[in-house]
This record gives sequence, structure tokens and C-alpha cells, in this order.
Amino acid sequence: MILSFASCLLCLATANFVQGSIENERKPYIVYMGEVPEYGARISVMDEHDMLLSKAVGDENIARESKIHSYGKSINAFAARLLPDEAKRLSDEDGVVSVFESSKRKLLTTRSWDFLGMPESSNRNAIVEGKIIVGLLDTGIWSGSPSFNDTGYGPPPAKWKGKCDKGANFTGCNNKVIGARYYHIDNYGPNPDEPTPVDTDGHGTHTASTAAGIAVKNSSLYGIAKGTARGGVPSARIAMYKVCWSDGCSDMDVLAAFDDAIVDGVDVISLSLGGASSDFFNDSVAIGAFHAMRKGILTSCAGGNDGPMLTTVENVAPWILTVAASSIDRQFTSLIKLGNGMMTSGNGINTFSMKTKMYPFTNGAHATNVSGNYYGNVSACDAGTLGENKVKGKIVYCLGNSGQDYTIRMLHGAGTIMAVDEPTDYYFLTLIPATIVLRNKTGDRLDRYINSTKDPQAVIYKTRTVRMKAPFVASFSSRGPQLTNLNILKPDITAPGLNILAAYTKLNTVTDETIDQRYSAFNFMSGTSMACPHASAAAAYVKSFHPDWSPAAIKSALMTTATPMKIKDKYGELSSGSGQINPARAVHAGLIYDISESSYISFLCKEGFNSTTIDLLIRGKQKYNCSSFKPALGFDGLNYPSMHIQLNSTESIISAVFYRIVTYVGLRNTKFTAKVTSPKELSITVIPETLKFTRKHQKKSFRVSVKGGSMKNGTDILSATLDWRSNKGHSVKSPIVVFKQQP
Ligand SMILES: *[C@@H]1O[C@H](CO)[C@@H](O)[C@H](O)[C@H]1NC(C)=O
Ligand SMILES: *[C@@H]1O[C@H](CO)[C@@H](O)[C@H](O)[C@H]1NC(C)=O
Ligand SMILES: *[C@@H]1O[C@H](CO)[C@@H](O)[C@H](O)[C@H]1NC(C)=O
Ligand SMILES: *[C@@H]1O[C@H](CO)[C@@H](O)[C@H](O)[C@H]1NC(C)=O
Ligand SMILES: *[C@@H]1O[C@H](CO)[C@@H](O)[C@H](O)[C@H]1NC(C)=O
Ligand SMILES: *[C@@H]1O[C@H](CO)[C@@H](O)[C@H](O)[C@H]1NC(C)=O
Ligand SMILES: *[C@@H]1O[C@H](CO)[C@@H](O)[C@H](O)[C@H]1NC(C)=O
Ligand SMILES: *[C@@H]1O[C@H](CO)[C@@H](O)[C@H](O)[C@H]1NC(C)=O
Ligand SMILES: *[C@@H]1O[C@H](CO)[C@@H](O)[C@H](O)[C@H]1NC(C)=O
Ligand SMILES: *[C@@H]1O[C@H](CO)[C@@H](O)[C@H](O)[C@H]1NC(C)=O
Ligand SMILES: *[C@@H]1O[C@H](CO)[C@@H](O)[C@H](O)[C@H]1NC(C)=O
Ligand SMILES: *[C@@H]1O[C@H](CO)[C@@H](O)[C@H](O)[C@H]1NC(C)=O
Repeated sequence: MILSFASCLLCLATANFVQGSIENERKPYIVYMGEVPEYGARISVMDEHDMLLSKAVGDENIARESKIHSYGKSINAFAARLLPDEAKRLSDEDGVVSVFESSKRKLLTTRSWDFLGMPESSNRNAIVEGKIIVGLLDTGIWSGSPSFNDTGYGPPPAKWKGKCDKGANFTGCNNKVIGARYYHIDNYGPNPDEPTPVDTDGHGTHTASTAAGIAVKNSSLYGIAKGTARGGVPSARIAMYKVCWSDGCSDMDVLAAFDDAIVDGVDVISLSLGGASSDFFNDSVAIGAFHAMRKGILTSCAGGNDGPMLTTVENVAPWILTVAASSIDRQFTSLIKLGNGMMTSGNGINTFSMKTKMYPFTNGAHATNVSGNYYGNVSACDAGTLGENKVKGKIVYCLGNSGQDYTIRMLHGAGTIMAVDEPTDYYFLTLIPATIVLRNKTGDRLDRYINSTKDPQAVIYKTRTVRMKAPFVASFSSRGPQLTNLNILKPDITAPGLNILAAYTKLNTVTDETIDQRYSAFNFMSGTSMACPHASAAAAYVKSFHPDWSPAAIKSALMTTATPMKIKDKYGELSSGSGQINPARAVHAGLIYDISESSYISFLCKEGFNSTTIDLLIRGKQKYNCSSFKPALGFDGLNYPSMHIQLNSTESIISAVFYRIVTYVGLRNTKFTAKVTSPKELSITVIPETLKFTRKHQKKSFRVSVKGGSMKNGTDILSATLDWRSNKGHSVKSPIVVFKQQP
């Protein structure tokens, strides 16, 4: 398979070269055609693709050359280089759902599981868990990591149909990492990297070990945050689909990985990549996750790192679990000692222990070799403004945190103290001894000491970890509301994503800088990228207890048992969704908001997709008629475990009715009572207020009516909670969030 991509890559490159500039106007598009027809052997699907392409392009030879790839295992689609009018012609063809340009996505970069109330000794269903396969679409994997040691693991589960590609520096699969493939069909240019499933970045190894790494004692980064590093489902297996390279992660590769993963037999798909969200069927992640959902596979995605601004959340299709990032209860501080004996501290991750007791201490103004109108900011230690002879061997105080450690390192400085105006919650590893202080709190004092002392001196100590109040939503975590489906609350849930220690590749330095010499089996990373595999593992954990649950049921259990964030964010649930995951509680969810295929279809009808398109998406025997769904849709049209109303800037009256159906997943007779917590601006009624269940899997419906007068200017969010409490101790919570766009 891969071999044929490679040879095709070559032939296309040649064709382009010969055909010159006209061909360069062609851009890679994905032509999406819904579900794979049941009758279709793969070959007939490909024939259909070729036929459509020839018809749109008008010339069989050019069509052949412009074809990039046919998908056809789980998803009916093909990729081709097209001119805009060819793309338009294709989108008008019968059988085509959407045609969109393939774009590039980006990566969204041990105490975390204990912190989530899931200690190493927690109740596990190890035998079933050992049959769970977590699939990740990421940068590949360094399978030689101690986190992937397969001692004691049996052979892969029988259902596994995936593969293990070979490649440079890859130590191969084992009974822990049971699959590893790579995809680079985006032949927009030659692959800048070696064709191999190995992780030369570190991101994929980190996310895979967070999800399903084994417990590794005494792991740390140079002794910092020492403890046992482990994944959420340590017995589960890992399948890595490498779609990200040093030039990004192409939609075409993402779709190819989904196409394989769905038939390979994975149970959960974890995707720590982001890109602008668009209409569902113009979005490779939404398409892949839709077909995964139809096969019972939940896709869990990073929600994006573009916070704290509103409307930045990504990967928002309702069949995706969208994950925000929170802090864990760990802060990193480094003590600073001055020549006059004063002690203070900064934040950051400094792995270095400085060799001598004290170092000369200076600042940009004193270390500069330029004067007057010179390009560059001396106080910020901009490259080119400092003299090497004035920096060498010294600790330099600089304003800003944008690579000053690199500049000082290049000038052979001993270290740097960087001052920022606003506190930050996430830290990069520095290349030299360094720490970050708040300018108005500590920085100005340090600067005054330098300015007013004859022989200023300082030393920075190695970072140690201290406890802090948590969790809170990370500053970078993307916020809602989403703009694709205004009335579905996103993100769904929150999981740890700040300064997470997990396995790392030995093929990259800890800072990703070539001038760095440090390699480590474990490293810190921050991002919704790190939060996502925590949620994926939580989903796998729930599935190990309830193998028959649908993706929506697992998602509902995680959402309704999540712990609402106590440290309130300015944007409340638009930052954190239902709250912090609590996997152990999710196993005993009590009630489930399940979403069947026909519910998703009624939702798509409400969103304006017609019966023709829906037939292509599912190619079922049953034909759906959108008109027949209309009366039962309710406000948002979906049995979602949270409720959201978005008003535009001119709407002032809040009025919505949500229809919901819950399925009882406990054992004995149980009575649930609705408890609503709401601000005075909202009036919320639940009918009926009690639900009585006499047997497992019994379903009951209810409706929630939300009313309110006009929202005050400046109040853009109102949050309430519906909590179904049972006499057996269940608490099944749904946030109810009203958001009004400001004029
Ligand atoms: C999908 O993408 C195509 C091509 O890029 C564009 O013309 C179309 O408007 C997009 N549709 C939606 C609904 O965004
Ligand atoms: C894997 O773990 C076992 C048992 O702890 C150990 O004996 C073995 O050396 C480890 N293998 C590797 C490759 O580290
Ligand atoms: C733990 O790891 C450190 C290196 O981080 C090493 O020096 C130490 O010997 C290890 N301790 C044990 C008990 O393995
Ligand atoms: C200042 O020093 C830097 C590096 O040491 C050097 O590149 C630069 O040319 C110097 N500038 C002047 C004006 O001497
Ligand atoms: C230099 O950078 C600092 C920190 O970013 C900033 O506060 C200061 O205003 C800048 N100075 C000039 C002259 O731009
Ligand atoms: C320092 O600046 C921060 C952020 O702007 C502010 O919250 C804090 O009150 C300031 N502290 C002092 C001592 O001025
Ligand atoms: C220290 O001196 C430099 C150069 O004269 C000046 O820019 C800076 O503001 C002084 N720092 C403080 C805290 O006064
Ligand atoms: C991978 O292996 C090749 C030789 O097979 C070597 O040239 C290259 O440097 C290695 N890459 C890394 C990142 O270690
Ligand atoms: C269904 O929608 C597609 C895409 O919007 C459109 O091309 C097609 O004509 C529609 N079909 C019907 C029967 O309305
Ligand atoms: C769909 O249902 C509506 C109303 O029930 C009906 O008028 C229409 O003919 C149906 N369409 C098809 C294609 O069955
Ligand atoms: C706001 O929503 C109302 C009701 O849905 C609609 O009539 C109006 O055009 C919308 N206004 C804007 C500015 O979008
Ligand atoms: C709210 O803002 C709008 C637009 O700026 C203004 O027309 C309206 O009078 C304001 N309402 C109140 C209650 O202040």
C-alpha cells in the first residue's frame, strides 16, 4: 500500500515538472462521497472515483495524473489535484457529498491520573482492558520507550487487523504497541522526513503513553516531578497512525488514517490535532469521526490552543468528544538568590543545577554594545543588541519570554531571568539555567538591584515542584461558543493538559532545539494535545466496563459525571464544558443520554442536509425522510448531555425547550429527581421532575424549558445546572448555558 503511494508520488512529481505552470494551479482537494457502498468491493469504488474524475477533468490522461488517492475501506472519498471549476463540477455530481481543499492541521502541544481520582490501585477490568485498542493519529511513536515495554502482555486481541510498517530508526511493534503505520500521500512536495512510523518529534510518544503507557517508576525529567508515570488504561494496546510530519498534518493523511483505523479494530481514536473548524463534511476530522461513530468507535479530540479568546474551539462535530485543558495541582518554581542574600523565586522548568555559588548578574542595558537609534530592544535582550564580552559567564535579566534563553545561550551567558507583565500558566523548558518572574512583583526589584549595586550577583536553583490550587482551565485552552452548531455546547469536557510529564522520543532533544544536548525518556508538554489522550483513555476505561455502550453513551457518562470546575473561569462552561473528567464515576453513570444513528440523522435534517445527502452518508437499507422528523426535534435537535442557547446580538428573549431521553444503566429500582441550580435571570422547568426506573436499559423522556427576559448588556453568559439525583447516590449533571453575543 505505502509502496504504491511512494511510487505514485514520484510519477506525479515528474508529471508536474513536465507540465509546468498550469499544473501548479491545481490544488489538492478531497472529494467526499459518504459511506462505502456495501456491494462495493474496493476496486469498484476506485473505478467510480476514476470515472467521476475523468468526467470532471475532461481528459483521461490529466485525470490519471491528477488523482492522488482513493479511500474506500471505511470512507468513500478520493483525493485529487483539481482546478476550482473542476472541483465545482464534481460537487454537483450525484453521489458527491462535498468537495473541499485539503489543508494542513497542526499539533496542539505523573501525577495527573492520581489527581483525577484514579490511583494506580484503582478498580480495573484488566482482562477486558487488555482487549481495548487505543488508536492515535499523531507524529508516530518511539516504541523503545520504557512506557511501552510489553513484558507480561499477551498477543494482540484477535479482532486486531492492523499493520506495523517498517522504517528508519523504528524498533518495531510489540504486544503493547501493536500497530504503527505512516501516511504521507500529500505529495504536494517530497516528504521532508524519512518514511517511517518512528516519532522524531516527541508529541506522539507523549500522547500515546498518556493514554495507555505502562506504569514506569522513578520517571522524571532530570529529577523534576519524580514519580510513577503511567497511562490511563495501562493494560490497553496502542495503535499509532503517523499523519504529522515536520511540514504539518495533511487532511488527506488524516482521512487515510481514519479509513484504516476504523477497519483495523481500534476502540477509541485519539486525535491531538487542530485546524479551523468548518462545515462538518468539509472537515476531514468530522468526516472520519462520523464514520468511526457508525462503527461504534468514539473519537476524542483536542479542542484547540487558541484561548483565552471566545469562539476559538475546534473539532466541534457533535459526534466528537471535544477536550479542553486544565491544570493539575503542581507548580514549578526555581529559587533565585542574590549577592546581598535576598531570596526570591520564579516559575518555569529549569533542569540545570548551576556549578558555582554566585554569578555576575547584569541586564540588557548594562550588557549592550550598541547605543542610540539602534534596531532592537535592549531591555528585552534582542539578538544583536548585546555584546558577547558583556554577557559571557553572567546571568542576564531580560524583559519578555520569547527566546531570550536562546540569545543568552548563543552569547555564552550563564543564565537568564526573564520578566513578564502577565502571569502565565504553562512553561517551556529553557536551554540554559533560567526562570520567569513577574515584572511588577519581582522583576523591577531585581533590575533595581542590578542598577544600584557595584558588583551584582545571582544564582538560579534547579526547579522543584510545589502544590497549588487546581484545577483551572489553562489560559491557552480554546473557548466556545462554537460557530458551526450554535446550540451544541463545546468544548465538552476538561482534562489535564498543563505541564504533563510523559514518555518522549529519544530521537529529539527535550527542547526540540538542535543546539540542545539533553535527551530524556520523559518530558513535559502542555496543550489540549495532552488533555485529549487523558479523555481518550477515560473513554477506553469506561468501555472496558461497558463494552456494549455506544460512543455517545460513553461520552455521556464522561460528561454527566464530570466535576464542574470550582475555580471559575471568566467564561465558565464555554471554557470547561461539563467539567473535569472523573473516569471512576463515569463507570457508574446511572443515566445515559444516548444518541442513535437516527438521532444524528434527524439532527442533520435540522441542520439542512437533505435526504439525498443523508442516503450517501449512511447508505442504509432504510431510507430517511427528513420531513418525518420535524415535530420531535426540539431546540437543538439532539439528545446531547449538555444544553446550550446562543443568542445573537439583537435577540433579547431567552426561550427554548430541550427534549431529552435518558436510558437507565443501573441495576435495581431507582428514582431520580431533577435538581436545577440556576441564576435568577433564568426560569427553568423540567417536566416531569421525577423519573422512576424498574429495570436496566429502560428509557424515559423529559423536557427542559428555559426562559428569561432580556440579558443585560455586558452579561454575555448565564450558567445553570440540571442534576438528576437518585436515591442510590447518582448525580447526573448537565450544564445549561446561555450565551449572548455582544453588540
Ligand atoms: C466547502 O469547501 C468548498 C471548496 O473549498 C467551498 O466551495 C464550499 O463553500 C465549502 N462549503 C462549506 C459549507 O463550507
Ligand atoms: C522490560 O521490562 C522487563 C521487566 O521489568 C525488563 O526485564 C526488561 O529489561 C524491559 N525491557 C526493555 C527493553 O527495557
Ligand atoms: C531514579 O532516577 C534517577 C535519575 O533521575 C537515578 O539517579 C536514580 O538512581 C533512580 N532511582 C532508582 C531507585 O531507580
Ligand atoms: C554587538 O555584539 C554582537 C554579538 O556579540 C555582534 O554581533 C554585534 O556586531 C555587536 N555590535 C556592535 C555595534 O559592535
Ligand atoms: C522593550 O520590550 C519590553 C518588553 O516587551 C517593553 O516593555 C518595552 O516597552 C520595549 N521597549 C521599547 C523601546 O520598545
Ligand atoms: C502586577 O500585574 C498583575 C497583572 O497585570 C496584576 O494583576 C497585579 O495586581 C500587579 N501587582 C502589583 C503588585 O502591582
Ligand atoms: C535600570 O537601568 C536601565 C538603564 O538605565 C533602565 O532602563 C531601567 O528602567 C532601570 N530599572 C529600574 C527598575 O529602574
Ligand atoms: C535515523 O536513522 C538514519 C539512518 O538510518 C540517520 O541518518 C538519522 O540521523 C536518524 N534520525 C534520527 C532523528 O535519529
Ligand atoms: C440536496 O442537497 C444537495 C447539496 O446541497 C443538492 O445539490 C441537491 O440538489 C439536494 N437534493 C434535493 C433532492 O433537494
Ligand atoms: C416525506 O414525508 C413528507 C411528509 O410526511 C411527504 O409529504 C413526502 O412525500 C415524503 N417524501 C418522500 C420522498 O417520501
Ligand atoms: C438574530 O436572530 C433573529 C432570530 O433568529 C434573526 O431574525 C435576526 O436576523 C438575527 N440577527 C442577526 C444580526 O443575525
Ligand atoms: C445595550 O446595548 C445596545 C447597543 O449598544 C443599546 O442600544 C441598548 O440601549 C443597551 N441596553 C441597555 C439596557 O443598556
